[in-house]
Amino acid sequence: MTEKNRQVLLKRRPNGLPVPEDFEIVETPLPEPAEGQVLLRGIYLSLDPYMRGRISGVRSYARPTGIGEVIEGRVVGQVAQSRHPGFREGDYAFGGYGWQLYSAVPGDGLLRLDPAEAPISTALGILGMPGLTAYVGLHDIGQPKPGETVVVSAASGAVGAVAGQLAKHQGARVVGIAGGADKCRYVEQELGFDAAVDHRTPDLGAALDRACPGGIDVYFENVGGAVQQAVFPRLNDFGRMVMCGMISEYNDTTPRPGPNLGAVVRKRLKIQGFIVGDRRELAPEYRRMAAPLVQSGRLKYREDIVEGLDNAPEAFIGLLQGRNFGKLLIRLAPDSTR
Ligand SMILES: NC(=O)c1ccc[n+]([C@@H]2O[C@H](COP(=O)([O-])OP(=O)(O)OC[C@H]3O[C@@H](n4cnc5c(N)ncnc54)[C@H](OP(=O)(O)O)[C@@H]3O)[C@@H](O)[C@H]2O)c1
Repeated sequence: MTEKNRQVLLKRRPNGLPVPEDFEIVETPLPEPAEGQVLLRGIYLSLDPYMRGRISGVRSYARPTGIGEVIEGRVVGQVAQSRHPGFREGDYAFGGYGWQLYSAVPGDGLLRLDPAEAPISTALGILGMPGLTAYVGLHDIGQPKPGETVVVSAASGAVGAVAGQLAKHQGARVVGIAGGADKCRYVEQELGFDAAVDHRTPDLGAALDRACPGGIDVYFENVGGAVQQAVFPRLNDFGRMVMCGMISEYNDTTPRPGPNLGAVVRKRLKIQGFIVGDRRELAPEYRRMAAPLVQSGRLKYREDIVEGLDNAPEAFIGLLQGRNFGKLLIRLAPDSTR
């Protein structure tokens, strides 16, 4: 076992796109688990767009990370030491904390993972928070009907890939928007969407018109910005806009002007935001539905695994620019279950 812990701290708040100098990597003693806690040795750390909000310091639905604090993140790992009756050394679990190699966390908050049921990394992606996000957005807001056209942005990503595949299972015609030819090919050929549109194409509106000749009934919004501007005027009467995230605007230093909302009245649109954490109770239902589909290959996923904690800042900066291809994970230690 490594004698020391290693952590990535927030050194200063980013101004626009984060830079490596906003982060600091330090070595610290191993944390001591208190009674009821376990020491978890991280194997995978999840990097997610919401972390940009946490390090900005702007008041939001969650407390921001303080300067000098470990950056928040979800971890899958192995129990290195247990002071909780429900966990033994060697157990695999989800629920470790932060951009660091080891964390001492309450055993009550950990979910034991069975590597025989699904790869342990999936607890951070398709069977975890991003997959549940896709499910909640469609279940609560999008509610696609057979034959309707659903457009999903960031379609090759952790949330978008699941949203599109689930909408397809529900009988919708699904069009993905993604950055670049490789991602578009993946969305169409591997994920089975009906069409894919590259948001870097010079005339995105015309490309959407070709891909969605009957207009758009549901837009699963993951990126905002120019993509949103192209999709919004193409929504049909009674269209639904599932406001999941607007990653292209997370580095903005001033808010952008929004669309004119007259169309919301004329077309009787529904635009609704949501935060997955408000619907945690749907997690077991989602997992029961999704796990067999993942096992049988009917729900596909892709992971983008970057080696080593020290590469987390660069990988995170890349996530905010679309450099990841699939669910972005940092491998903190070898995964002996694979
Ligand atoms: N509401 C909630 O509870 C909740 C929960 C989880 C996630 N989310 C949101 O869901 C969205 C997707 O998250 P994820 O974890 O699945 O990430 P992801 O899609 O795996 O990765 C982010 C993707 O966003 C796209 N992107 C990044 N910068 C962009 C830009 N400037 N313009 C256009 N596209 C850009 C890139 O895809 P392309 O190269 O294809 O553009 C990139 O690969 C984010 O907005 C996130 O904040 C919301």
